[in-house]
Amino acid sequence: MAACSSPRSAVVAVALLVVALCLHGAAAQSPLCEDYYDDTCPDAYDITRQVLIDAHQSDPRIFASLIRLHFHDCFVQGCDGSLLLDSVPGMPSEKTSPPNNGSARGFPVVDAVKAALEDACPGVVSCADILALAAEISVELSGGPSWGVLLGRLDGLTSDFNGSLDLPAPTDNLTVLQGKFTALKLNDVDLVALSGGHTFGRVQCQFVTDRLYNFSGTNMPDPTLDSAYRAFLSQRCPRNGDGRSLNDLDPTTPDTFDKNYYTNLEVNRGFLESDQELKSSPQAQGTTAPIVNQFANSQDAFFRSFAQSMINMGNLNPVTDPSRGQVRIDCKRVN
Ligand code: HEM
Ligand SMILES: *[C@@H]1O[C@H](CO)[C@@H](O)[C@H](O)[C@H]1NC(C)=O
Ligand SMILES: *[C@@H]1O[C@H](CO)[C@@H](O)[C@H](O)[C@H]1NC(C)=O
Ligand SMILES: *[C@@H]1O[C@H](CO)[C@@H](O)[C@H](O)[C@H]1NC(C)=O
Ligand SMILES: *[C@@H]1O[C@H](CO)[C@@H](O)[C@H](O)[C@H]1NC(C)=O
Repeated sequence: MAACSSPRSAVVAVALLVVALCLHGAAAQSPLCEDYYDDTCPDAYDITRQVLIDAHQSDPRIFASLIRLHFHDCFVQGCDGSLLLDSVPGMPSEKTSPPNNGSARGFPVVDAVKAALEDACPGVVSCADILALAAEISVELSGGPSWGVLLGRLDGLTSDFNGSLDLPAPTDNLTVLQGKFTALKLNDVDLVALSGGHTFGRVQCQFVTDRLYNFSGTNMPDPTLDSAYRAFLSQRCPRNGDGRSLNDLDPTTPDTFDKNYYTNLEVNRGFLESDQELKSSPQAQGTTAPIVNQFANSQDAFFRSFAQSMINMGNLNPVTDPSRGQVRIDCKRVN
């Protein structure tokens, strides 16, 4: 029997208590493992992949949206599917908090993956694991690296609206960003590599208007923003225009997962203040800026670090104790 696997029966579950940890190589620090569903839902990866490919036909943005859901799930009380729960009386959902409301998207596709997995292996694959699988598949299908997704998370029982207010914000400076990552034991390499998620996907004008017109209340543009890019963005995002209008996070290759996020930062074309801070903050010199340079020069180095940092992020506080979690049947509500 595998050291870490999904329980198939009470007998197996008892045996699992004896061998609680996955003991394979690099995963030794994590209670999760790659082969968790090998016995109970061997096609989980392929089923998820097919639903994503189908969804992408009508929604080219979906891959970017799905990886962001995993990030916003993991950063708030760990990767426990808390983001996916709908509000109930007394427990407002993370979905409705400012960093997510009108912004986080892709929930119906998560539900479609869940439905397909419930068809194939009822009650087996958690919603938190679906987000981890969808993130990896989305990156790989967009031209990025692949990695062995660690699995075996249970879904938590609560959504933490207040916790989601502390998600990294687009106006955070480098010191604040580093503080939010360090609080989760994620280091500067993780911060720079994971920010590379902004190599694809879309962003609303409201997150750049202060940089274009009134940076830090100065009534002037952000001086670090490349002037040609500023002119381009000012056309797309006029001062009193619709703050919800969409832009590419990486206009050079909008839907491809590549190192262009970093080459953009090198020429002061980061979209968000939090992006450009990694390269241009005085505090970045000797800390994050050299990592930006390294990734701008080597897609290989970026891909290797990104895969490792996604695993690190995916290891944030997984629920594995059945008294504290469950495999939700519907990702939107506890069973
Ligand atoms: C480091 C701090 C981060 C900040 C401040 C930040 C902020 C943002 C903001 C403001 C948006 C635009 C949302 C909107 O317009 O509705 C966005 C989009 C996005 N973020 Fe981040 N983010 C961060 C880190 C990450 C990480 C770690 C990932 C993934 C590994 C990620 C992946 C994405 C993706 C893919 C999109 C586009 C989503 C879509 O098109 O639906 N971000 N982010
Ligand atoms: C979320 O956004 C919608 C539409 O912009 C708004 O009507 C609603 O009040 C917001 N919800 C919360 C909890 O702020
Ligand atoms: C969330 O924060 C609000 C305002 O600070 C507070 O009233 C509320 O009790 C908090 N909710 C939880 C569940 O901690
Ligand atoms: C970063 O932002 C925080 C919070 O706004 C502020 O207290 C701090 O002084 C800023 N640090 C730098 C170096 O600008
Ligand atoms: C610029 O920002 C400051 C501080 O946020 C604000 O008080 C001021 O009203 C803004 N100016 C304009 C023209 O919006």
